Amino acid sequence: MAIMPVIKMDNPVLHRKAKKVRKIDSSIQKLIDDMIDTMHDVEGVGLAAPQVGVPLQVIVIQMPDEEEVITLINPEILKNSEESEMMTEGCLSLPGYRGEVKRFTSVTVKARDREGKLIRVRGEGLMAQALQHEVDHINGIVFVDHLDSMDKLEKTKEEDEEEAGSI
Ligand code: NI
Repeated sequence: MAIMPVIKMDNPVLHRKAKKVRKIDSSIQKLIDDMIDTMHDVEGVGLAAPQVGVPLQVIVIQMPDEEEVITLINPEILKNSEESEMMTEGCLSLPGYRGEVKRFTSVTVKARDREGKLIRVRGEGLMAQALQHEVDHINGIVFVDHLDSMDKLEKTKEEDEEEAGSI
């Protein structure tokens, strides 16, 4: 178990599609454990492997006040809701900034869990937002790519709270 440094927006790893995991071996289990430790350390809601510099399709998500950590390997969005809404979003790879991003209000994701079992996860609200944000990371897309202009980014005020709740 170890805390890994979270890479920032200027790192090319964040802008490339991550590779599929072929075999869920002990190195992947260690990566997942380290990603969970890192997510807890920065008080994030979710973390994708490219954010710790590992170009693999692995995501961990933990909703605030929930004990369960959801691990998604090789995730794929199966279904989007028809409705979408503008949601305020921040990213652990861009501390201190927030932006308004249009997200589907609910999504269903297909993935493998850390035991290799095929799972489907449906999320609404913050969970839907986190799923879309993290699957974007797997595809080399960051939330600022959804903004018309970087002028739409807002600086957050509280230094201490800037990263909490980011994804
Ligand atoms: Ni992010």
